[in-house]
Amino acid sequence: MEHLLIVDDNEDVLTQLKWGLTSESYTLHLAANVDEALAVFRKLHPGVVTLDLGLPPHVESSEEGFRGLVEMLKLEPSAKIIVVTGNDERENALQAIKLGAFDFFRKPIDLDELRVIIRRAFHLHAIERESVVQQDEAASEVKDNCGIVGSCAAMRGVLGLIDKVAASDVPILISGESGTGKELVARAIHSKSLRKHGPMICINCGAIPENLIESELFGHEKGAFTGAASMVRGKVEYAGDGTLFLDEIGELPVNLQVKLLRFLQEMVIQRVGGRKDIPVNVRIIAATNIDIAAAIAHGRFREDLYYRIGVVNIHLPPLREREDDVRILAEYFLERITRDLGKPLAGFTPDALACLNTYGWPGNIRELENKLRRAVLLADSTLLTAEELGFGESAFALNGLGLADKTLKEARAMLEKKMVLAALAKYEGNIVKASEALGISRPTMYDLLKKHEIEN
Ligand SMILES: Nc1ncnc2c1ncn2[C@@H]1O[C@H](COP(=O)(O)OP(=O)(O)OP(=O)(O)O)[C@@H](O)[C@H]1O
Ligand SMILES: [Mg+2]
Repeated sequence: MEHLLIVDDNEDVLTQLKWGLTSESYTLHLAANVDEALAVFRKLHPGVVTLDLGLPPHVESSEEGFRGLVEMLKLEPSAKIIVVTGNDERENALQAIKLGAFDFFRKPIDLDELRVIIRRAFHLHAIERESVVQQDEAASEVKDNCGIVGSCAAMRGVLGLIDKVAASDVPILISGESGTGKELVARAIHSKSLRKHGPMICINCGAIPENLIESELFGHEKGAFTGAASMVRGKVEYAGDGTLFLDEIGELPVNLQVKLLRFLQEMVIQRVGGRKDIPVNVRIIAATNIDIAAAIAHGRFREDLYYRIGVVNIHLPPLREREDDVRILAEYFLERITRDLGKPLAGFTPDALACLNTYGWPGNIRELENKLRRAVLLADSTLLTAEELGFGESAFALNGLGLADKTLKEARAMLEKKMVLAALAKYEGNIVKASEALGISRPTMYDLLKKHEIEN
């Protein structure tokens, strides 16, 4: 049940309002001064308040009324406060609105009119509250998924898998092209696991010079080699009770693959130059953007290590295969970036959307994020354009279209689908205009929609 609070120092007015405003849709509360009003307000959080401005101890001025207005809005910014003023107090009314009042109302009171305003205020209050709840739900959804945005079937599968494997200690291998979110997924698994209060230590196996990897991983004893002036712990040891993220595991030299395998089998390490076995309790998550099966076939990756780390494989699809996710991610990043940069933008031009959809995204989500950040910085209208997103002529170069390694037949089909989608996006789903632009008949267009399973 909603609450309506009426604040007025005049007994007669209170009685009149109490009698006139009694309703089945809210309960009525009366207060004769600001302190009484605030007491009720704190307790019941009324959605709507009518507030007389001339209240004791300063009945002749509006000072006390303004104080009440400000205090209540501080407690509950969403409250709808209707200010009641004398007939010739235009200035006060304006001031009240500036301070956040929902509306004002002039004495003498016309009950019918006041009822309408109150109903409108309750209505708005309810709508706002609903949308706040929805926003909270959306926010918590993002939080539950640890910031992993995506609604295509493959990503739903990934999210489900993350939830299933997070709590156990099984090693995970995350595969996917560069920029598809491998590290993000690794962090999600760690933060959903029982090890979330422990560290997550990342090593990029492809970025450390070969002769340093071993000591980087396992540490070294004092004097182990020239320059080893003191004992240094390795990353594996630092990851104790937490998660060790081995990025680009496919780049690990074969001799170190052997040492890593030994560690995974026994969960003990030896620092370089040391003989002591040191037990370490870590969970391994590895990532690769190369095809491990091919690396095994070429003798560059040990099969036994693969069996050890690849028990559960989470594969992240490239962005160009994620159906509607390009748009969803673009909107998600646009929202975030505009908020970060304090530069509000409404969205994309139809042309820009078409380009986002047809582009091949070789750099996947990282590329999308970077393109958007640059475009927002450049933008000078409320809708981002294709040019601002960097889609000039060159966007249609072959590599950008994601056609590498495709047969001509596959490439033709992909291009056909992309062209149809682009034309539909450009003409907002208008089949006649889209077919004209593509130079095909309407029946042909319908055939293509069916062939490519495009819903319009
Ligand atoms: N599904 C997603 N939702 C939201 N943001 C994402 C998603 N996937 C990736 N990102 C963002 O894209 C960027 C690249 O992701 P990440 O670094 O995890 O990719 P990666 O696969 O590890 O790339 P690389 O192979 O280049 O190391 C990050 O800023 C990440 O937050
Ligand atoms: Mg990465």
